[in-house]
Amino acid sequence: MAHREGESEPRVYGYIRTGSAALTHIICAVFTVTIAVLSRPGSSLFSWHPFFMTLAFSFFMTEAILLFSPHGSPIKRFPHKTKGRVHWVLQCLCVSCALLGVAAISYNKHLNGKPHFTSWHGLLGLLTVCVVALQSLAAVPLIYHSLAKGWSLAKLKRYHAASGLVTYLLGSASLLLGLSSAWFTASVREYAWYLSALCPALPALIIMNQVTSAYMAKRRLQS
Ligand code: HEM
Repeated sequence: MAHREGESEPRVYGYIRTGSAALTHIICAVFTVTIAVLSRPGSSLFSWHPFFMTLAFSFFMTEAILLFSPHGSPIKRFPHKTKGRVHWVLQCLCVSCALLGVAAISYNKHLNGKPHFTSWHGLLGLLTVCVVALQSLAAVPLIYHSLAKGWSLAKLKRYHAASGLVTYLLGSASLLLGLSSAWFTASVREYAWYLSALCPALPALIIMNQVTSAYMAKRRLQS
């Protein structure tokens, strides 16, 4: 097996990580385009909901986290500060799309006189949008450190990464429940449904691996 001297792990692991990060970029882009094609944004008020939610959580949020990946970042060679800036721009886009998507479905339900937050998808979705908004507000001290007196930057970053991962997993679970809705199951055949379900599930595993390995690598360095 290819294994350079002085290296801590076989080179093949690096290839697998690069491959899985590339796959995640492709899955999220293809999934977002597919949902846009199926929902045809603008064709109805409802159509904006799946479109904005997939754009927010599958595209913007995944890209915002993947850009820190040592193996799959499109801006790998840029300084960490630049990555941080691009990350918060993408996260602002994610929150804006999420708010627009929830506004669209809530107003649509209001116009049709339907009750709100009656399904597991609606309830978990509401929680997800509240958590992503909170997570973004709680990230402000990472830019203006003086706002969090008594907290070291390293500690803030650790908590931000851990709660960010929980937020990402909530987003993936909400997407998955959205795919189980009557609208989506009526739009695709069974085999296509299983393929679609992989689109939030696989990136969730890759992102979980990326965040936890970055955290564990730091712990190893500290101990
Ligand atoms: C992370 C992404 C998503 C979040 C946070 C989210 C959030 C929500 C919320 C809060 C509601 C309830 C609104 C109300 O009751 O006033 C809702 C409803 C709905 N969503 Fe989503 N959604 C997401 C993705 C999707 C996707 C991808 C689809 C379709 C493929 C979808 C389809 C629906 C449908 C059909 C409803 C109306 C029926 C129901 O209340 O369950 N959603 N969503």
